[in-house]
Amino acid sequence: MRLRGRKGIRESLENQPDLVVLDAKPHRGRWHQFFGNDRPIYIELGMGKGRFISTMSATYPDINFIGVDMYDELLRRASEKARAVWAERGVESPPNLALLRANIEWIETMFAPGEIERIYLNFSDPWPKAKHARRRLTHPRFVAKYIELLNERGEIHLKTDSKLLFEFSLNSFSDMGLQLRNISLDLHRGGVREDLVLTEYESKFIEQGQPIHRCEVVVGREALAEHRAAMRRQVEGHKADTPYPVSEPSSSPATTSEG
Ligand SMILES: C[S@@+](CC[C@H](N)C(=O)[O-])C[C@H]1O[C@@H](n2cnc3c(N)ncnc32)[C@H](O)[C@@H]1O
Repeated sequence: MRLRGRKGIRESLENQPDLVVLDAKPHRGRWHQFFGNDRPIYIELGMGKGRFISTMSATYPDINFIGVDMYDELLRRASEKARAVWAERGVESPPNLALLRANIEWIETMFAPGEIERIYLNFSDPWPKAKHARRRLTHPRFVAKYIELLNERGEIHLKTDSKLLFEFSLNSFSDMGLQLRNISLDLHRGGVREDLVLTEYESKFIEQGQPIHRCEVVVGREALAEHRAAMRRQVEGHKADTPYPVSEPSSSPATTSEG
């Protein structure tokens, strides 16, 4: 029987210590102990009903995932979703997933420096009024905290339907001196990308025909070095592929010493 009311929801969350974390502080710097392994930790900030983080955890069992949201009811729904996704695979308790009830405002009290490898920001509230810009999860004051918490391979992946939030975020990442990659103004323009896991909000916006904006931010030193090396290889490859021009365009001015 489903528990109802605030007290009932809280009780249902308290009864799931294998999956739901109501107080992050004891786990700060010790999340690997929670999971019982040393694998990378990817987090989603503002997971909502948890479709994305649940599906990701089942799709990538070698990564640890943490979904963060601040509302008990969303945590309850996310826990049901996660258990349902894993039940399809015959597993009762998701081994690589934690659902954390916390306010992102104090993210530095939940994770230690270098503890996280990837942050997903999926359809974060855009806070459209300029006077609320500080609340946007990509405001430089948040980005500065993310930089601290990410490890050497650290990245931030952002998806949004909001042009305003996307523009604001690109400026914010760039102002913080970060490297952007794979920027798309219409992620699903050629049909829904099957290789990327959709979120609840994303499905809704795709149905409405709204373009989804996406970018990746390369933060960690190792990730940045890898990205630069890949770019150098691409440029070198391109140079090698390009045939050397055998003749000048006929409009070129004559520059021989004979004049
Ligand atoms: C628009 S929803 C997106 C949900 C989900 N990521 C998706 O794409 O379907 C934004 C979510 O962020 C959560 N959120 C917003 N600000 C937060 C904060 N400061 N701390 C924790 N969660 C927050 C909200 O509760 C909400 O569930």
